[in-house]
Amino acid sequence: MQIHRLRLQNFRQHADTHIEFGAGLTGIVGPNGSGKTTLLEAIAYAMYGTPAARGTRDSLRRRGAPPRSSVRVELDFGLGAHEYRVIRGLNQAELYQDGEPSPIANSLGAVTDKLTRLLGMTREEFFNTYFTGQKELSVMASMSAPDRARFLSRVLGYERLKVAQDRLKVKRSALKARHELLEAGLRDTAELDAEESQAMIRLADAQEAVAQADAGVAAGKARLAELTPRWEHAQQLRETVLSLDGERRVSEHHVHAAREKFSALDRQLIEALAAQEKLAQLNSQLEPLASLRAERETLEKQAELFAARKAYEVQRQDHQARLKRIQERARLMPAPEALADAENRVQSVKDALQSATVDAEAKRTAWVRDAQEVQTKRQTLLDQYKDVTEQRERILEAGAEGACPTCSRPLGKDYEVVLGLLERQLEAIRNNGNFYRQRIGQLAEAPTEVRAAEQQRDTLEQDAAAAMVEVQRLADLVQERTTLTKEREALEAKLSEVEALLGGSRAAYDEARHHAVRATIEALDPVVLEAERMKVTAERAEGLVAEAERAERELSRREAEVTALAERIAGLGYDEADFKAVHVAMEEGRNAGHEAEKVLVRTRAEYAAAEEAVATVERRRKERHELSRRAKKAGTELLLYHELDRALTDLRTDLNATLRPELSDLASVFLRDLTNGRYSDLELDESYVATILEDGEPKGVISGGEEDVANLALRLAISQMIAERAGQPLSLLVLDEIFGSLDEERRVAVVELLRGLADRFPQVILITHIESVNEGFDRVIRVVLDPSSGVSTVREPAVEDMEHVAA
Ligand SMILES: Nc1ncnc2c1ncn2[C@@H]1O[C@H](COP(=O)(O)OP(=O)(O)OP(=O)(O)O)[C@@H](O)[C@H]1O
Ligand SMILES: [Mg+2]
Repeated sequence: MQIHRLRLQNFRQHADTHIEFGAGLTGIVGPNGSGKTTLLEAIAYAMYGTPAARGTRDSLRRRGAPPRSSVRVELDFGLGAHEYRVIRGLNQAELYQDGEPSPIANSLGAVTDKLTRLLGMTREEFFNTYFTGQKELSVMASMSAPDRARFLSRVLGYERLKVAQDRLKVKRSALKARHELLEAGLRDTAELDAEESQAMIRLADAQEAVAQADAGVAAGKARLAELTPRWEHAQQLRETVLSLDGERRVSEHHVHAAREKFSALDRQLIEALAAQEKLAQLNSQLEPLASLRAERETLEKQAELFAARKAYEVQRQDHQARLKRIQERARLMPAPEALADAENRVQSVKDALQSATVDAEAKRTAWVRDAQEVQTKRQTLLDQYKDVTEQRERILEAGAEGACPTCSRPLGKDYEVVLGLLERQLEAIRNNGNFYRQRIGQLAEAPTEVRAAEQQRDTLEQDAAAAMVEVQRLADLVQERTTLTKEREALEAKLSEVEALLGGSRAAYDEARHHAVRATIEALDPVVLEAERMKVTAERAEGLVAEAERAERELSRREAEVTALAERIAGLGYDEADFKAVHVAMEEGRNAGHEAEKVLVRTRAEYAAAEEAVATVERRRKERHELSRRAKKAGTELLLYHELDRALTDLRTDLNATLRPELSDLASVFLRDLTNGRYSDLELDESYVATILEDGEPKGVISGGEEDVANLALRLAISQMIAERAGQPLSLLVLDEIFGSLDEERRVAVVELLRGLADRFPQVILITHIESVNEGFDRVIRVVLDPSSGVSTVREPAVEDMEHVAA
C-alpha cells in the first residue's frame, strides 16, 4: 500500500489540511498536541470509519467549525495494480477506483466492506501491520507473559483458531446431547417382538369373531323372511276388524240417539193430549166472556159521551162569565162624540199658544234690543270722556306756552278758552252718561209686559199638553171598545155552539155497571192466558203422532245396521291372542337381527383395531430403524468433532511452536540492521521475552534504550509477518513516536535503519515531537497549531530551513 494524498476538512483541529505524500522517509514533526497523530487517525478513519477513530463520532467535528459545515477526509492511495480514492464524511462515504467517475462503493458500510476485502485485513490487522501506534512498543514490553502471548496470538490471527475451536466445542456439546437423546429414544427390540406377536393373535381372534357375527346376521334375516308374510296378513286383518268395529260403534250411537228421540216424542204426545182435556174445561169457564166484552164496549162509548157533555157545560159557564165581564167593561166606555170634542179643544188651544208665542218673542226682542242700544251708547260716552279727560290733562301739563297736543303750536291766549270748552264737553258727557246709567238699571230686568206675555204662553203650553193627553186617553178607549165588541161577538158565537151541543137529550150512563163489567173481565184474564197456552200444546198432538212414527222407523233401521256389522266382524274370524303372538315373534326376530348387526359392527371395529395394532408395531419398527440410523450418524459426527478439536489444539500448539523461531529470525534481521551488526540475534523465550545476543552470547543486562531497539525490531518483525500472511507486501510503515528513551545516536541509527530498509518499505512515515530529528528524512512536514484560532496547519519547509530550525 502507498499513500499519495490526504485531505482533512473540519476533522478535529484541522480546518482544511492538505498533504501530498511521496516515497521514501517522511517526517511529520510538531509539538505535543499540534495534530500529528490526528493525521494517522484520519487515514484509518478513511479506511475503516468511526470505529478506527479515537473518542466518539461527535468529537470528530472541529470545535469552532461553522454549524452544518461538512466533516470530511479524502485519501488517495495505491494498492496492488490499482489506484483508489476514498472520501468519507459523518454520514456518507464513496470509494473510487482508477479515476473512474462513478464510485465502486457509496455508503459508509459498503466502503468499509469493500476496503476490508481489498486489503485482506481487518481493522485491527491493518493497525498492527502498517501502523505502530504511539506508546505501543512500551505497552508490549510491559505486558505479562500470558498477555504478551495472547497479544501476539491476536495480532497474528491465531486467536481466530481459538474462536473457531470454542464454536466447535459448543456445537459438539449440542451434538452430544442430541446423540444421547436419540439413543435414549430407541425402543427395545424384544419388547417390539412381543407387541407384534400379541397384535397378530388379536387379529386372528377378531377375524374369527367377524365370521361368527356374519353367520348370526344371516340367520336373523332368514327368520324375519319367514315371519314377515304372517305378520303382514295379521296386521291387515286387524285393520279391517278395527275399521268395521268403528263403523259398528257409530251405528250403535245412532241407535241410541234414535231411541232417545222416540221416547222424547212419546212424552210430548202425552203432554199434548192432557192439554186438550184441560182446554175443554177452560173454554166452558170462558163462555160468558164474549157478551161481557160487548157490554163493556157499549158502556165505554156511553162513558165517553158523558164525559164530553160535562166538558161542554164547563165551557158554557166559562163563556158566560167572560161575556159578563166584557159587558161590564163596555159600559165604562165614553160617548162616541167625546173624542171629537177633545180634538177640537186641542186645536183651539194650539192656535192660542201660537199667537201667544209670537207676541212674547216680539216683546222680548224689543227689550233686548233697547238694552243693548243703551249699553252701546254708554260705552261710547265713557270712551269720549276718557279721550277728553286725557286731552285736558295733556294741555294742563303743557300749560299755555306748551305745544298744543293737537296742533303742536302754543295755545297762548286760547289756552283758557280751550280748557273751558273741554270742561263743558265733559259736563255734557257726564249728564248723558248718568241718563244712560239709569236706563241700563231700568232695562236690567224684563219689563212687565214681556213677563206677562211669556206667562200667558207658558199657561197655554200646559193646557195644550193636558188636552193632548186627554185626546190620547179617549183614542185608547175607542180602540178598546172595538176590540171588546169583536171578543163579545166571538164568545156569543161559541156559546150558541155549546148551547146547541148541550141542547140534545141527556145520554144514559151506568158507571157502577161499567166498573162491575170491567172487574169480571179482568178476573178472567189468567184463564184466557192459560187457555191460549194449552191451545198451543194441544194443537201439536197431531204432528207429534206422525213424528213418532218416523222416529220408530229410523230406530229399527239403525238396529238392523248394527246387527249386520256384528255379523261381518264375527265372519272374519279375527283373534287378538293370535295377533299378539305373531307380533311378539316379529319383535323378537327384529331385535335378534339388530343385536346380530351390532355384534358384527363391534367385531369389525375390533378387527380394524387389531389391524391398526399390527400397523403400529410395523411403524414403530420403522421409526426405531430411522432413529437408530440418525443416532449412528450423530455418533460418527461426534467422533469427527472430537477429532477436529484435537487437531485444532495440535495446530495451535504447532503454530505457537513455530511462531517463536520465525519471529526470532525476522526480529534478529531487523536488530542487526538497527545496531549496525553489533547485536547479532534476538531470541524469544516461551514467555516471548526478548533476549539480545551479542556475538552469539545472551546479553544479561540491557539498557532501556537497547530494550526499545529490541522491541522495535520485534514490532517490525510482527508487522512483516502479518503482511506476509495477508498476502500483501509490507510496503508502508507508519511509526508514531517510537523513539521513546533512545538517545540522539540511537535515534539517528533508527532513522538510518529505516532509510536502509527502503527496499523493503518503500514508504515510511515517522511522527515525532523531537524537532532535532530531521536529518536523513527525504521530506519533513511540520504541523503547527495556531493557539488563537485552535486550528492546525501543515507546512513543508525546505531542508535548509529545517537545519536552521534544528540549529
Ligand atoms: N474536534 C476537535 N476539535 C479541535 N481540537 C480537537 C478535537 N479533537 C481533539 N482535539 C485536540 O487535538 C489534540 C490532540 O491531537 P493529536 O493527538 O493529533 O496531537 P499530537 O500532535 O499527536 O500530540 P502529541 O505529540 O502529544 O502526541 C488535543 O489537544 C485535543 O484537544
Ligand atoms: Mg501524537
